[in-house]
Amino acid sequence: MKLKLKVFRHDPATGKKGYTTFEIDCEEGMTFLTALQRIKEEIDPTLTFRHFCRAGICGTCTININGFPKLACKEQVFPYALTSGEVTLEPLDKFPVIKDLAVDHDSVILDLKRLQTWISEVRKDVRIPPNVSSRIEKAADCILCSACQSYCPQVLEEGYAGPLIFAKIYRFLEDPRDRNKEFRIREALEGKLYHCLSCNKCNNVCPKDVDPATLIRELMTYIKPDGKEDL
Ligand code: SF4
Ligand code: SF4
Ligand code: FES
Repeated sequence: MKLKLKVFRHDPATGKKGYTTFEIDCEEGMTFLTALQRIKEEIDPTLTFRHFCRAGICGTCTININGFPKLACKEQVFPYALTSGEVTLEPLDKFPVIKDLAVDHDSVILDLKRLQTWISEVRKDVRIPPNVSSRIEKAADCILCSACQSYCPQVLEEGYAGPLIFAKIYRFLEDPRDRNKEFRIREALEGKLYHCLSCNKCNNVCPKDVDPATLIRELMTYIKPDGKEDL
């Protein structure tokens, strides 16, 4: 079966921007990442996109497919081929484009460093109750794919941290071994936790069911707008 892929192209070196349409043969089981690789190998070696694990666990291959952020290595081509003749592939919104479908995630990496998203000193004396452990695991399933961050309308507000960052804050705030709770509460408030629109768009696009909007609502039950916690 034939499918047309209309791919966004941008080369900051030349300033050229636009779309190139490629027609490929697709078969059942083919992912968008495989389709992009086929184009790169057989049609246009200059086409640029990111990938690493090819298994939905590294979060590097996220692109917009018909306007929705998806993992290219997981999303199947065939259902699109059956229902439409052409699919539009674009880089993630709200991130600077490096080239074509590859965007610069440095802002997220710098935020994670600033937030110290690790436990600096493990308290071996602290046991994690099973119900808390399952909540931490859910937040820890985040693969930093940035789908939620790019789809969140509120990220356009200056200083709004975004769903990816709040999911990380939740993951450590919930962990009884973490000693940085005051710092995390302050970061959540400075990241404008209470400006979340509760629109659930981040939940809808998360490929790992982290449900950042739900975690944000839970954070709001712990952290009061005046900075007091209720853990
Ligand atoms: S629920 Fe909040 S964080 Fe999620 S997309 Fe909406 S505004 Fe953004
Ligand atoms: S919360 Fe979900 S959508 Fe957001 S970065 Fe993590 S895995 Fe991706
Ligand atoms: S290549 Fe790793 S998640 Fe897609």
